[in-house]
Amino acid sequence: MNNFQYKNPTKILFGKDQIANIKNEIPTGAKVLMTYGGGSIKKNGIYEQVKEALKDFELVEFGGIPANPEYEILLEALKVIKEEKIDFILAVGGGSIIDGTKFLSGAAYYEGDTPWNLLTDRKPVTKGLPFGSVLTLPATGSEMNSGAVVSRREIKEKLAMGGPGLFPQFSVLDPTVIKSIPKRQLANGIADAFTHVLEQYMTYSVGAKLQDRFAESILQTLIEVAPKIIEDTSDYEAASNFMWSCTMALNGLIQQGVPTDWAIHAMGHELTALYGIDHARTLAIITASHYKYNFETKKEKLAQFAERVFEVKFGTEEEKALIAIEKTNEFFESLGIATKLSDYTEEFEGTAQHISKKFEERGWKAIGEHQALKPSDVEKIVEMSY
Ligand code: NZQ
Ligand code: ZN
Repeated sequence: MNNFQYKNPTKILFGKDQIANIKNEIPTGAKVLMTYGGGSIKKNGIYEQVKEALKDFELVEFGGIPANPEYEILLEALKVIKEEKIDFILAVGGGSIIDGTKFLSGAAYYEGDTPWNLLTDRKPVTKGLPFGSVLTLPATGSEMNSGAVVSRREIKEKLAMGGPGLFPQFSVLDPTVIKSIPKRQLANGIADAFTHVLEQYMTYSVGAKLQDRFAESILQTLIEVAPKIIEDTSDYEAASNFMWSCTMALNGLIQQGVPTDWAIHAMGHELTALYGIDHARTLAIITASHYKYNFETKKEKLAQFAERVFEVKFGTEEEKALIAIEKTNEFFESLGIATKLSDYTEEFEGTAQHISKKFEERGWKAIGEHQALKPSDVEKIVEMSY
């Protein structure tokens, strides 16, 4: 096991009716900015619950943050934070709203002229305006981590930022919120969380048995609850397991002391930036090609995944590893998620070259758990995903 230092300061308020308790988590007298998306919270009762909980606070609202939070819109929210002298932000939404709020948290204290540099500099953000979240869509783990991804459509960029200053102070995880989530978004949430675990697991063994089993247990739980959630969003037990699995998949715990990959996400983000494909679907497009291309270095873990998660009992290491790749794609497809780029766009020619050029320009010349993947490898992987 590799050395690690781990701290996660986010307080979790888990379960039914926890939204009411946010009033105890926000400093008395704070002026609060509530951030939210396109309006789903106004149809499912979450907005009213939050308003009721915050009735003793001075509250300013900023709605309309889109999926894949857009930089230009976030700049408008930043203006509100400064003009209104906001002390605390409450994100009410999915990963996009929480990520957008993390950007705002960092940008509120950013001293330069162009907050976009928070994304291009890749320097850890150590201080942010305090914020909390009410999660409405289990998927990203953003509710309990310090990372964020922001898009800028004007230049077709989607970049990540983060740092110890960007953990939410608290997050409410009420599994009943999933009742109103459309099937497409539920499927996205399951596939995103599943891939988060894979990115921290499908590398090489360092003898970290507990981390491996944490990862495998999350994968197994997601596979078990996925059909139940898609069938019936009011199944509270399934919803609870789904929600907590998504959070545990990316709150930092399972990656301690082990190598991580994240190449699938790096390539996937480019597909969203280019074509607007939902984040989780971009991951499903890249995963099998990435594992096939890096088969030699990943086959030991792929075979372990086949044995322990898919209960494949027979075959050589290589055979099991190949079955693991097939079963992963079958799992995505069982959620209604197509796994080829050509399923989403007819204009896929040239995508691989475009992405490898971007990586080259940004100096991303060594990705993957061995830092062995160059832009030319990325080009081949993306091409295999057409
Ligand atoms: O905008 P509204 O009207 O609220 O609708 C949203 C949105 O259209 C809807 N929705 C959310 N909760 C709902 C609901 N509809 C009905 N009932 C509810 N309870 O769902 C749509 C998608 O929401 P979004 O927040 O975009 O989804 P998700 O949570 O999948 O977030 C995706 C974003 O997170 C980033 C992705 O790149 C993408 O930009 N990621 C963030 C990560 C992180 N911070 O750690 C890691 C991830 O790998 C990912 O990159
Ligand atoms: Zn993701």
